[in-house]
Amino acid sequence: MAGLDPATHSRNKRGMETSANLKPLAARKTGPLKGIATAPGDKSVSHRALILGALAVGETSVTGLLEAEDVLRTAEAMVKLGAQIVREREGHWLIHGVGVGGFCEPADVLDFGNSGTGVRLTMGAVATTPVMTIFTGDASLRRRPMRRVLEPLALFGVNAAAREGGLLPVMLKGARSPAPVEHRLAVASAQVKSALLLAALNVPGTSTIIERAATRDHTERMLKAFGAEIEVETLPDGAAAISLTGEAELRPTPIAVPSDPSSAAFPLVAALIVPGSDVVIRGVMLNPRRIGLIETLKEMGADIQVQNIRHEGGESVGDLRVRHSALRGVEVPPERAPTMIDEYPVLGVAAAFAEGKTTMRGLEELRVKESDRVAAVAAGLQANGVKVEELADGMIVEGHADGNVAGGAQVLTHMDHRIAMSFLVMGLATRAPIRVDDSSMIATSFPNFESLMQSLGAQIARADR
Ligand code: S3P
Repeated sequence: MAGLDPATHSRNKRGMETSANLKPLAARKTGPLKGIATAPGDKSVSHRALILGALAVGETSVTGLLEAEDVLRTAEAMVKLGAQIVREREGHWLIHGVGVGGFCEPADVLDFGNSGTGVRLTMGAVATTPVMTIFTGDASLRRRPMRRVLEPLALFGVNAAAREGGLLPVMLKGARSPAPVEHRLAVASAQVKSALLLAALNVPGTSTIIERAATRDHTERMLKAFGAEIEVETLPDGAAAISLTGEAELRPTPIAVPSDPSSAAFPLVAALIVPGSDVVIRGVMLNPRRIGLIETLKEMGADIQVQNIRHEGGESVGDLRVRHSALRGVEVPPERAPTMIDEYPVLGVAAAFAEGKTTMRGLEELRVKESDRVAAVAAGLQANGVKVEELADGMIVEGHADGNVAGGAQVLTHMDHRIAMSFLVMGLATRAPIRVDDSSMIATSFPNFESLMQSLGAQIARADR
């Protein structure tokens, strides 16, 4: 893989995860945010483009790939499994796949760094090919649950060994003669669904995965685009049954990765809470299963205009014009959670500047992300002068309608990029600056966060000088 080595890159930046390698940043009260920005490529689509490209026969061309640590880890893993990957120029990558069932046994451990999506999807992709693979990750990923994916993968006949509690490192021995499965997902997780679909690719016959909550469907869309036989049927109880016929031959198709709505969320909320702001965020993916935050913020009174809607690479995308708005608290419907699961931390920040209470529930999954995001958001908001009631499955945030939020405290990010970015956004509108203990993790999903925010006028700077 030419040019980029995620492992060296992140180890150099963060060393062995010691405090000496932390990069504290602070955000201070900022004048109106103005201008036009383009958020980086979608992380979910980028991971999938690399994995399906590696499983296709021939060359897949990807443009707009997110060149962030998480995605580079997946690229590195695909290379270790036998794919050839070339970076032509920024965002433009070529993947020479090995074909379904063609992965070779990696000579070394696959280290996914901070990436839950990378590790879980790759576990699925190797599960039905008879190779032995060892997976690991950084301290945050080594605390995250893997049983949710290992247990259903066992139905295909894969052999797995994990650390106590189903934690990484994990060793998988892919099934030699896998049989098709029918499985109803126990958790609302696109990662688990995707892992099972990727496993089913190398299984003779039709496997069916049933999901009750509509989680992001990028894997299904991309599999279809690569020519896989995949059907979705709605069952009488409203669940979706996704059937995939295996021993598929995937045909390369060019992928144009649209901008990540989960990254766009940060400049978006910043513009809403900083008085006088008026910004445009261009080319944001508007997949209906990813836009729960926009819906919720609109219900809160946010001035967000979706302009210039177009179709790119199988997804609709649009430009978001966002202006500072007087927000009101709302009750977020719990069933909306899958469509905005990564956006609750920054919604918590918007809620701090809204009139009245914002109630967020149904967020059990948020406790097992890169950090326990319910606890991290509640602690960060409380430290900065916002009343929060933490619930087992969510939180209630009491906003300050006058925008008069104290700030002034340091926030512990717990190796979580979205916690870091959320509180840096918050510090742009609080009376006193907000400091985050570390920002190096931001490189896992949004490497140009600091410069993009600064280009709109945000005052974000190193805090250790
Ligand atoms: C992702 C799915 C979500 C999300 C993660 C990316 C994906 O996780 O939180 O950032 O690309 O499939 P779960 O599916 O585990 O909820």
